[in-house]
Amino acid sequence: MTTLVGTDLGVQYGSFRALDGVSLELRPGHITGLIGPNGSGKSTLLHTLAGFLKPTTGRVELGGTDVTSWQPYRRARSGLSIKFQVARIYTQMTVAENVHLALQTGRPVRRLLRSADDVVDRDRTQALLAPFQLDDHLDVIAGELGHGHQQRLELAMVAAHGPSVLLLDEPTAGMSPDERRGVGQWVTSFADRCAVLIVDHDLDFVRSISTTITVLNQGQHVATGTPAEIEAHPDVRRVYLSHV
Ligand SMILES: Nc1ncnc2c1ncn2[C@@H]1O[C@H](COP(=O)(O)OP(=O)(O)OP(=O)(O)O)[C@@H](O)[C@H]1O
Ligand SMILES: [Mg+2]
Repeated sequence: MTTLVGTDLGVQYGSFRALDGVSLELRPGHITGLIGPNGSGKSTLLHTLAGFLKPTTGRVELGGTDVTSWQPYRRARSGLSIKFQVARIYTQMTVAENVHLALQTGRPVRRLLRSADDVVDRDRTQALLAPFQLDDHLDVIAGELGHGHQQRLELAMVAAHGPSVLLLDEPTAGMSPDERRGVGQWVTSFADRCAVLIVDHDLDFVRSISTTITVLNQGQHVATGTPAEIEAHPDVRRVYLSHV
């Protein structure tokens, strides 16, 4: 079981500090909700943890190993998966082909030619899509799916990597309350095997699924605590009231 630790992370664009000395720890079996106003650095933090942004200060450790200098693909091979804020699916391919491709990520080339894997992959594809009610959309071109379905397809794709640490950037954006509930249940069941970080602007949703919540504002850490602690925290109230 893998823990992801970010310590004193900073990201600077010119003189602007998008992230300023932020630390957090993601443990297996825990769901950490990451909240904060627009532009507070949430996506920047996720991109830094996953290796898509190089921090100007601080370090990232995955399972006790310092991975700060590792490229994203190497972190992914060690069990780190990210769902970006904007869905990254192959819009010209079918739903099944998208998941099939995700299943093959990181496999040695010689295994890609084994037809036995195709049969197993077909079953796994169905199983991965079922929690998102996409298992009856296998042959639909992904680009023709509605926004909520595209988001859910990408969740099935990150699940296909079998991650031990999962970073989710606004996975329920644009979804109906029912779809959002479904994603919440899926995230909760997935967290049995995995450390999860989830960004969402719906505070009720974040409170309902998170064991811990971290709040950012203007690139800085404001507070970390249980949902009840965060709700009662005076600095958190100040951050949100100043944005209403
Ligand atoms: N490439 C860049 N160059 C300069 N500034 C950037 C760059 N990328 C992001 N920023 C700035 O960094 C800050 C943090 O952005 P980030 O996307 O992390 O915020 P966020 O909390 O994810 O916001 P949202 O809730 O809107 O998704 C913002 O002010 C943004 O404009
Ligand atoms: Mg963002």
